[in-house]
Amino acid sequence: MTSRDLREKFLKFFKQKGHKVIPSASLVPKDDPTVLFTTAGMHPLVPFLLGIKHPEGKRLTNVQKCLRTDDIDEVGDAVHNTFFEMLGNWSLGDYWKKEAIEWSYEFLTDKKWLGLDKSKLAVSVFAGDNDAPRDNESVEIWRSLGIPEERIAYLGKKDNWWGPPGTTGPCGPDTEMFYWTGVEDGPPQFDPKDSRWVEIWNDVFMQYEKTIDSKFIELKQKNVDTGMGMERMSAVLQGRDNVYDTDLFAPIMEKIRALASKKDIKAERIIADHIRAAIFLIADGVTPSNKDRGYILRRLIRRAVTYGKKIGINDPFTTLLYRNVVELFGEHYPEIKHSEKILEELNKEETKFGKTLAEGLKLLSKEITGKQAFDLFQSYGFPLELSLEIAQVKNIGEFEEEFKKHQELSRTSSVGMFKGGLVDHEPQTVKHHTAHHLLLAALRQVLGNHVFQRGSNVNSERLRIDFSHPEKLAKEQLEQIENLVNQKISENLEVKREEMPKEEAEKLGALAEFGAKYADTVSVYTIYNKDGSVFSREFCGGPHVERTSMLGVFKIFKEEAVSAGVRRIKANIE
Ligand code: ALA
Repeated sequence: MTSRDLREKFLKFFKQKGHKVIPSASLVPKDDPTVLFTTAGMHPLVPFLLGIKHPEGKRLTNVQKCLRTDDIDEVGDAVHNTFFEMLGNWSLGDYWKKEAIEWSYEFLTDKKWLGLDKSKLAVSVFAGDNDAPRDNESVEIWRSLGIPEERIAYLGKKDNWWGPPGTTGPCGPDTEMFYWTGVEDGPPQFDPKDSRWVEIWNDVFMQYEKTIDSKFIELKQKNVDTGMGMERMSAVLQGRDNVYDTDLFAPIMEKIRALASKKDIKAERIIADHIRAAIFLIADGVTPSNKDRGYILRRLIRRAVTYGKKIGINDPFTTLLYRNVVELFGEHYPEIKHSEKILEELNKEETKFGKTLAEGLKLLSKEITGKQAFDLFQSYGFPLELSLEIAQVKNIGEFEEEFKKHQELSRTSSVGMFKGGLVDHEPQTVKHHTAHHLLLAALRQVLGNHVFQRGSNVNSERLRIDFSHPEKLAKEQLEQIENLVNQKISENLEVKREEMPKEEAEKLGALAEFGAKYADTVSVYTIYNKDGSVFSREFCGGPHVERTSMLGVFKIFKEEAVSAGVRRIKANIE
């Protein structure tokens, strides 16, 4: 079955079940500067999962373009991609486990739809722990559909739990479906760790809210969020053991092979993945730069170009792959047909990098120090593993040290997302950072614990926070919030930084930014009230002032809507 058939069938199936088809949101999350990219189909729907009414109703379905950079070093194997598409269906407080699972099963196995072999299907469900019981409801539904006991795995939170997006918010158990792709006669015992059992679909049941004190309370609105990876499912349906041999990639791969003079499957795959991702990113308005999204885009293009060199593509080639990508995806994503802008950006970046690459390769052909190798990686956007592969690095320890420092900086800088960006230590910016913590705590105290940070922007001029709240704030509320922050400033409270294991910070109820990823050891800033109780506690790399009286007068000068369910406050310290 072609990927086009899969796309059409999925949407048609859920349309028949009363779902409205919604378009894919942009790869650049709207009004949410805390996350770089849309990483899952549920991401653009968060306000609606939290209870805001969606204009299209309670049953939605779509194919969402996503971008994840966490696994960038694994791209080149059989299944990992940076850019990918996720097929999803959602119930926003409407149907629940029975319908979700039965429909997943029907779509997968019914001859009218995908017609997969039932005997090659297996599932995993949440095993239960101290926070929430075993998901027996899902087990019963799978049994009623004929899934035998030996094809059901019971796994813990690490495998069968989704969310919350930050450390607090909606979350719940999920049930994952696996398909046997091995060539042996008949599938053996189900083992979710065996990569021949490919995970094809995930049904998430958002039935809990993780609270600030790490309790899991039942949500009033129970949601279903499902995600099926387009590339992996296409591989299964087309009998391929990797996503690059499916019709989603084959023409791009062929083109790369035609241009190359050396054979290297991993390099070909990386080029195909990265250029496809780059085209979609430019189409959504990202341009190569040294910061944030632009930095990721730059890295993708430069990595692809370097791997191009490795397989003997000596002339500029990224724009030559554009036509193949448009032929494959233009119909579904018309935004990538804006060829002028996309070709221009690809070409500009490739040309600009060309010179650096030539110099870098010369350097790499000599014996260089660890520091030089790291500089090549950091400043020129050279792929790390390639630098190491080509270079005769004299002092690998030095390289590793630099690399560790770099990773630490990426993690602690604001939300771990501003990779490559620098933390601004200017005194007024630092003050705004601390005021930002006071403001978030004041918002939660005055408006309630449904308030979570959804975005922020802090510089020396002002501070801005986007947060979840369903309606416009009344004048009195704004005054109350402003007064509370100023009161805490005048109380001269201590702002204390502590490092601790991530789990401990979560247990202590530290607030994390939406969508942020943290290292195992985190930095936490706490502002203690005079009586020793906690006024504010957040995951944060800092820096901050030591005591609140160092701040000055806090002033809110604007409150406005960002999107449904998200408000924005602009403020400053005078
Ligand atoms: N949000 C779930 C996932 O990404 C469906 O797997």
